[in-house]
Amino acid sequence: MKAFRAALLRFADDGSALYEDDGLLLIGPGADGRPVVRAAGSWQALAPNYPGVAVEHHPGKLLAPGFIDLHVHFPQTDVIGSPAEGLLPWLEQYTFPHEARFADRDHADLVAQVFLDELLRHGVTTPLAFCSSHPASVDALMAAARARGLRLIAGKVLQDRHSPDGVRDETAQSLADTEALIRRWQGVERLGYAITPRFAPSCSEAQLRGAGELAARYPDVWIQSHVAENRDEIRWARELFPAARSYLAVYEGFGLLRERAVYAHCIHIDDTDRALLRDTGAAAAVSPTSNLFLGSGFFDYEGARRIGFRHGLASDVGGGTSFNPFHTMLAAYCVGREGQTKPGVSLSPQNLWWQHTAGAAQALGLGGVIGNLQPGCEADFLLLEPRALPLLARKVAQAGSLDELLFSLIVLGDDRVVEQVYVGGAPIA
Ligand code: GUN
Ligand code: ZN
Repeated sequence: MKAFRAALLRFADDGSALYEDDGLLLIGPGADGRPVVRAAGSWQALAPNYPGVAVEHHPGKLLAPGFIDLHVHFPQTDVIGSPAEGLLPWLEQYTFPHEARFADRDHADLVAQVFLDELLRHGVTTPLAFCSSHPASVDALMAAARARGLRLIAGKVLQDRHSPDGVRDETAQSLADTEALIRRWQGVERLGYAITPRFAPSCSEAQLRGAGELAARYPDVWIQSHVAENRDEIRWARELFPAARSYLAVYEGFGLLRERAVYAHCIHIDDTDRALLRDTGAAAAVSPTSNLFLGSGFFDYEGARRIGFRHGLASDVGGGTSFNPFHTMLAAYCVGREGQTKPGVSLSPQNLWWQHTAGAAQALGLGGVIGNLQPGCEADFLLLEPRALPLLARKVAQAGSLDELLFSLIVLGDDRVVEQVYVGGAPIA
C-alpha cells in the first residue's frame, strides 16, 4: 500500500466534485492485482485506519484524477497550428499528407513516443485516439502505450473513398485489418480497440456496413468517428446519403450508434439527433479548441443540458491547438458562454473538470474504472502544484471556494503545474 496526503479532488456519481482540503489517497492492489484506489477521503478520518502505512505528504498540492482526452489524432501530432480556410481544405492540405507518412513503421514508432510524452506531460493518462489508415500505425501506438502501462483506446482509420493515394484504404482489406487489430489488441493489458470510420463522406456504404457488423460482433470494442463539425462537410454528407434523416442518422443506419461509440464535434445537430445520442448511449467528444481554430462552430451546451446525453472534452489535436486540458476546459467555458443561441450557459469549473475526467470516463463506458479517485478506480492520478506559476500561486492563496480554486487552475494552468503523473500507481519518469 502507498499513501499520499494532500488536497484531494474526486467526483460523486452525479458529477459534483468531492474535495478535501487535507485528503488521503491510498493505493494498493485491486482484485486482479492491478493498483487501484483502496480508500480516499479526509486525512483525519482515514489515517487512523492505516497505522503502518508510510504517508507521502505534499502540503499545498492537489491530488486529482488523470485527464481523459476523448478524441485525439496520434498522426496529427505535427499538424497542430496548420491554418486553412476550414475543415475540408485543412484535411487536403495538411492532414492527409502528414498521415500518409505513417505507412512507415519507423516514423510511427517515433511519433508515438512524442505523442505519449506530450499527453502525459499535460496529465492526460487515457486518450481515445485515431491512428492513420495504416495498420502499422496502430501497432506502433499500442506497443508504445503498453510499454508505459497506459490505458489507451485507439483504432485504424477507415477511409476507402474521397481520400488521396497514400491514405485511402481498400474496403475488404480495411475490414480484415480492423478485425485482425481487434484480435491483437482489444483487452491486452490496459489497451482497447476502437472501430474508426474517419467520417461518413470518406467511407463507402460497404465499409460503413462492415464497420457496423464488426461493432455487433465485438460489443466490447469502442467506435469513434466525426459528425456535424462543419457546414460544408454536412452538405457533402447529405448529398452522399440523401435518404438519411440527418448526418448522425447515417451512422445509426449502419449500426454505429451504441454505448462505447464516441462522435467528435456534434455541433450542428438538432434535438432529434440529441435524443438519438441519449437513447443509444453514444457520446459526443466536445473539441472546443479545434472548433474555434477551424471555425467550425460552437457546441450547444444548452442543448446538451436540455436533452441530456453523454459528453466529455477532447483536444482533437491536430485540429485542436493544444494537448493541455486546462486550455481545453477554458475554451469549453468560452464556447458555453457564447452558445449557439443567446444567452449561452456558464459552465461551472467543477463541470468542466468532470467533462475531462469522470464524465469522459462515463462517455467511454468506463465510469468507476478511470477518471476518478473513488475506491476501486485504477490508480492514474496527478499531483498538481499551483505554486509552479507565480500568478496562479497568488490566486490560489486567495481562493475562497473550490470553484475559485478550480477556475484559477483552468484559466492559468499548464503543464508546469503537473508536477507528477502516476500511471497504474507508479510515478512516470
Ligand atoms: N473529419 C474527418 N477527418 C477529420 C480530422 O482528421 N479532423 C477533424 N477535426 N475532423 C475530421
Ligand atoms: Zn478529429
